[in-house]
Amino acid sequence: MNDTLKFVVMSDLHLVRNGQTSMTLDTAERFEQAVACLNARYADADFLILAGDLADEGGAEAYERLRDIAAKITIPTFITLGNHDDRPTYLSVFGKDQADETGKVNHVIDAKGYRVIVLDSSEPGRVDGNLTSPQLDWLRVRLAEAADRPVVVVLHHNANALHIESDNIKLLDDTPFIEVLKTHDDIRQVIAGHVHLTSTATHHGIPFTTLAGGHYSVSFNVDQPKTPFKGLSGPAQMAVVLGTAHGTTVLFEDFIDGNTVIGVHNPD
Ligand SMILES: [Fe+2]
Repeated sequence: MNDTLKFVVMSDLHLVRNGQTSMTLDTAERFEQAVACLNARYADADFLILAGDLADEGGAEAYERLRDIAAKITIPTFITLGNHDDRPTYLSVFGKDQADETGKVNHVIDAKGYRVIVLDSSEPGRVDGNLTSPQLDWLRVRLAEAADRPVVVVLHHNANALHIESDNIKLLDDTPFIEVLKTHDDIRQVIAGHVHLTSTATHHGIPFTTLAGGHYSVSFNVDQPKTPFKGLSGPAQMAVVLGTAHGTTVLFEDFIDGNTVIGVHNPD
């Protein structure tokens, strides 16, 4: 058995009711393409994480579409929520047991010598994100349990500033989150969606990554908060995480990219 951890992160599906589009995009069709790509190329992955903004307006019909399309996924799937989601409606479709003792939709996954922790950073009525005190206490215990193993954390909201306009909707206060992460000395990655943009950073010495996700992508304007950014139809993107004992790699699979293949190279 291959001992390299392999998992996929999708984010920002923004599903809507049948017959509707979001930002002119058929988001259900895009999620169908994501699932087809996953099944064709990553069927050997250990699991999939859906990192929030599952439904554009938090409606039950969107969650039912999510459930129906996700039924085609052949690997274990762990789901958490984003700011566009509605937790009670999500739980009414997927089951109340999806929420844990903190009242939120967190998960802990142990695989291939790693611990992967999925955090629900959504906060009712807010666009920015929040991790509650019970969640941070829960995270501290989950990290202590995995003191001898590398850890990857996945959540919807980016905790680190990207120096673009969307910084005003990042995780509300990253300080207590960082303090808890610092109780573990081998945090390999903190992976988020939310910004509809690919980025990589270190923040307080910890690697942070965002993926563009399945909905529209954005052009960005560094330190120019009054300059409008463009919404782009692609790439629609998932992240592929590969972990060994000594290193953790995040690759980006653009399952809709708008590019034309201009050559095929045989590997030497
Ligand atoms: Fe989103």
